[in-house]
Amino acid sequence: MAVSRKSWPNLFCTCLLLCATEAASQQFQLEPPSSTVLRGSDARFSATVEGKWEVMTWTLRRFLVLTVSVTGNVTTSSEQFSAAFCSGGDTGCVEFTIRNTTRGDSGPVICTVQGEYGSKTAQLYVQESGTVNIMGGDVTVVQDQQVELQCVTTAWFPIPTVTWTQNGKAVDSSLYNTTDMANGDSFNTTSVLKLQAVSNTTVACWATVPALTNPTSSSVFLVVVPKPPNWTVLIAVVVGFGGFALLVLLIIGIVFCYKRRKEKQRNYQDEMSRRVKTQSQISGVSVAGQRQGQVNAGYALEGQTSVTPSELTESGFGQAHDSNIFKMPDAVNSNLEGNGYNSAYNTLDESGFRKHRHVTIV
Ligand SMILES: *[C@@H]1O[C@H](CO)[C@@H](O)[C@H](O)[C@H]1NC(C)=O
Ligand SMILES: *[C@@H]1O[C@H](CO)[C@@H](O)[C@H](O)[C@H]1NC(C)=O
Ligand SMILES: *[C@@H]1O[C@H](CO)[C@@H](O)[C@H](O)[C@H]1NC(C)=O
Repeated sequence: MAVSRKSWPNLFCTCLLLCATEAASQQFQLEPPSSTVLRGSDARFSATVEGKWEVMTWTLRRFLVLTVSVTGNVTTSSEQFSAAFCSGGDTGCVEFTIRNTTRGDSGPVICTVQGEYGSKTAQLYVQESGTVNIMGGDVTVVQDQQVELQCVTTAWFPIPTVTWTQNGKAVDSSLYNTTDMANGDSFNTTSVLKLQAVSNTTVACWATVPALTNPTSSSVFLVVVPKPPNWTVLIAVVVGFGGFALLVLLIIGIVFCYKRRKEKQRNYQDEMSRRVKTQSQISGVSVAGQRQGQVNAGYALEGQTSVTPSELTESGFGQAHDSNIFKMPDAVNSNLEGNGYNSAYNTLDESGFRKHRHVTIV
């Protein structure tokens, strides 16, 4: 068979074109490149093949777990795995499902299409949400006191993000510290929140991992009771006032008693002096009378009989009185007659004390 030399380049070009078209059609996509799911939930991957294909295999953690043909025949190693054509029955798209994922399912997911398509790899991450618990439950604190709350999360994978809220508002991250520790193939964390007790609030601790759409939380009620009054100050004030009042009362009492005693003394002295006066008046009057008599007697005796001082005795006076020689005018009477109704005179008693006496006659 003779081939013209001219036709060779054409043949080559046709082949090259054909090869290029074939290569372009033998491609497929695996979506998503990575999937993060919670343990126990399902994970799904889809392979979209451009062009003709016959057989497709799925490998999980290096084990072939499922085979699917373009006719729809599916062979699995376990009921956990399944495959189906995507919606609409398009044979160019296969959806691979891993049900009830376990932590052990984490790893590469490989899809291989028989032929020159080769294989594609995606990643599966299985996470775990554990428990959240604020230790101690509701707390009652005195206003302005520092409160320390401890939130413990258990059995999370990976390490959860722990945050706090107060009445639904995020608490500043500077107010809490979170530490974690491995607990087998998961993690426990302890978060310590320190805040100032201002008012009654609901404090919540939240923990989450990327696979979790709604964070898990634990909350407690923070009851803030008003500060009790400072009893020591109150007591001191009361005692101080009480002491002061007592002191004042004591002083008043002492002054009162002193005054009363003084008054009594004065009354007594007055009484005494009154009595003394009365007595002295009685005696003074008699003495004065005697003196008067004596003086008068001396006066009356002038020019008549000489009376020696020895005669100024009781008997002498009596003698004189009896003798009736001298009738001395009553001083009171004479004064009454002379000066009217008011008169005063001084007398001297034996002791030489001067007695001043007022006599009022109406
Ligand atoms: C958190 O830890 C750091 C360093 O250990 C410390 O300085 C800080 O006071 C802590 N904060 C709280 C709220 O415990
Ligand atoms: C994690 O928490 C659980 C439950 O509280 C506890 O039994 C376990 O000992 C903790 N693990 C570590 C490492 O602390
Ligand atoms: C907080 O609530 C308690 C009752 O639940 C109440 O007795 C107290 O006065 C409240 N404290 C403040 C600061 O409102």
